[in-house]
Amino acid sequence: MAVLSGLIRVMEKAARKAGGRLRRDFGEVEHLQVSRKGPADFVSKADRISERTLYDELLAARPDWGFVLEEAGTIEGDPTKPRWIVDPLDGTSNFLHGIPHFAISIAAQEPKLDGSGWGEVTAGVVYNPVTDETFWAEKARGAWLHDGRLRVSARGRLSDALIATGIPFQGHGDFGEWTKIFSSIGPQVAGIRRNGAASLDMAWVAAGRFDGFWESGLNDWDTAAGCLIVREAGGFVSDFRGRSLPIHSGQVLAANDTLHSKLHKLLVGALKA
Ligand code: IPD
Ligand code: CA
Ligand code: CA
Repeated sequence: MAVLSGLIRVMEKAARKAGGRLRRDFGEVEHLQVSRKGPADFVSKADRISERTLYDELLAARPDWGFVLEEAGTIEGDPTKPRWIVDPLDGTSNFLHGIPHFAISIAAQEPKLDGSGWGEVTAGVVYNPVTDETFWAEKARGAWLHDGRLRVSARGRLSDALIATGIPFQGHGDFGEWTKIFSSIGPQVAGIRRNGAASLDMAWVAAGRFDGFWESGLNDWDTAAGCLIVREAGGFVSDFRGRSLPIHSGQVLAANDTLHSKLHKLLVGALKA
């Protein structure tokens, strides 16, 4: 049974408040699909409202912490205190197209002890407002879905593995790189999915729903909470060079230990070719 810390309670409360609003707005988006103007302006407003709600809630709970917000940017706080890393709507394209698969991602990142910048992420919450699932983790306290412990899948064979990825799109990512990796991993595994919300891709690896995940061109707000959740679920997270960095601002390869090393080998081979 998980005992929620004060910090996780704050993060979950903020995510639920912003998520409730996103859920209502998502209902509206479905009607706007058929309108001539389309839902784009409405969605960017929903994104901003979600971020504002998260900001207000988190600031009220921890007044001296700074923020890295996807929409509003960096807001400095007390440099000796942690800061929040927030994606107020991960899976925007899904939301825009009426596809019920999106999330809110919140992470808490510690300052380095020597004052030379930002270090480890020590708490993360990924909240799916549609399914009402809260994936969360705290450093050394495990990863959880509500009060059920999460474990990455135990599958060790590529031929059994269901792997998630993020595919580059207009103006975003490296098509050549992705195609090489896909051509190398695709034929070996049971399936590849592109669900469209990186934070949930990682939460699902932690939950054992996916056996692995790779994507590049990601930002801290996409990955900060998800990487901690995978690690605390017993998974391994690295960049494409295999380095296990404290926070992944770009590339992510996540899986259980056995599959991580197999996927990494394929990925390295693909990028060398
Ligand atoms: C995007 C999603 C998507 C990933 C993109 C991200 P956004 O975030 O996580 O799955 O492939 O790289 O930018 O824009 O929906 O917050
Ligand atoms: Ca995102
Ligand atoms: Ca976003």
